[in-house]
Amino acid sequence: MKTTLEDLTAKIEEIKTQLSQESNINSEELRIKYLGKKGQFNELSKLIKEIDDKKTAGQLLNDLKKHIETSIADELMNRSASSADRQQWIDLTAPGIRPSVGHMHPISQAIEEVASIFEKIGFTRVRYPEVDWDWYAFESLNMPPDHPARDEWETFFVDMPDTTQPIEYDANNPRKRHPSLVGGKIVLTPHTSNGQVREMERLNSTPPIRMVNIARCYRRQQDVTHTQMFHQFEGLVVDKGINIQHLKGTLDYFAQEFYGPGTKSRIRPFHFQFTEPSFEVDFSCHVCGGTGEKDGDKCRFCKSGWHEVGGAGMVHPNVLKAGGIDPNEYTGFAFGWGVERTYTLKEGLNIDDIRLLYSGDLRFLKQF
Ligand code: PHE
Repeated sequence: MKTTLEDLTAKIEEIKTQLSQESNINSEELRIKYLGKKGQFNELSKLIKEIDDKKTAGQLLNDLKKHIETSIADELMNRSASSADRQQWIDLTAPGIRPSVGHMHPISQAIEEVASIFEKIGFTRVRYPEVDWDWYAFESLNMPPDHPARDEWETFFVDMPDTTQPIEYDANNPRKRHPSLVGGKIVLTPHTSNGQVREMERLNSTPPIRMVNIARCYRRQQDVTHTQMFHQFEGLVVDKGINIQHLKGTLDYFAQEFYGPGTKSRIRPFHFQFTEPSFEVDFSCHVCGGTGEKDGDKCRFCKSGWHEVGGAGMVHPNVLKAGGIDPNEYTGFAFGWGVERTYTLKEGLNIDDIRLLYSGDLRFLKQF
């Protein structure tokens, strides 16, 4: 015989009554008995294929399901309330729950560490604009407009009218194009070297200068070792009689302080427009101790014992001139490189994708 809507309603009422009388089984058992695969609800649902008015039948079944669910939940609430009544006591010997405390972002920690290492040897920490005149980022650094060396710095230019008056470039007197006099293009600083001439100006072109400029930089590149926004720190020392040995000594000092005793630095000839001579700077690898070999194999962490970190050199006479300093009287050295890169090379960090640092993922950040 075919089941009718009336039959279904009667059965639903039966189940509801039965449910309201349950008292000896726990909520999990209730769930299985009523909502389980072979439970009352599923058994009843099978009848739907016999009923003509499937829409109404479906609704009735839906209502029943909701009713069962809330009944089980209510039951659970009632039971736990009464058991809580029975357990009105506090275990004073139980260990406390430690509230989670935040900490500085790993890159902020690295910046503080770099700053304090240089402050110990008399450097002044400064921070110069991260959106700056082309003059400070390029031109004052011996890179006239359209100079091919600029290509290295994959620069974001800010969309603003160029207020530069057409003035012929004069290498002997680059200050002629000083932006406070003539304006110019605006860039997102692609390196912290924009701080060099700014620092010379801050000190009224009067050495000694010992600055460490730590700031954000921007370049058009993004992959596992590059983010479009990153940080650099820039050292600049200008005084009478400054030479390459001072640079080398400073690099060695930093290597030991930041990476631990025994770390060495190495400089290799390179080219920058704003230093002469110019170098690339490497630090010895802490994994293989600078040997390039580990357990009879090539060290997987470095290139034959060394990590390339950044650039350095003796300040170019044109840069000193741009900052109003007489290159016949003073010399200087400068160096600069990425905070992220320097930091991720630290022993035991194993961060193989520096984009993770800016992912905002607490599971990652909590580890530092
Ligand atoms: N500004 C250079 C760079 O971003 C590094 C550098 C700084 C080189 C100072 C020499 C002197 O690659």
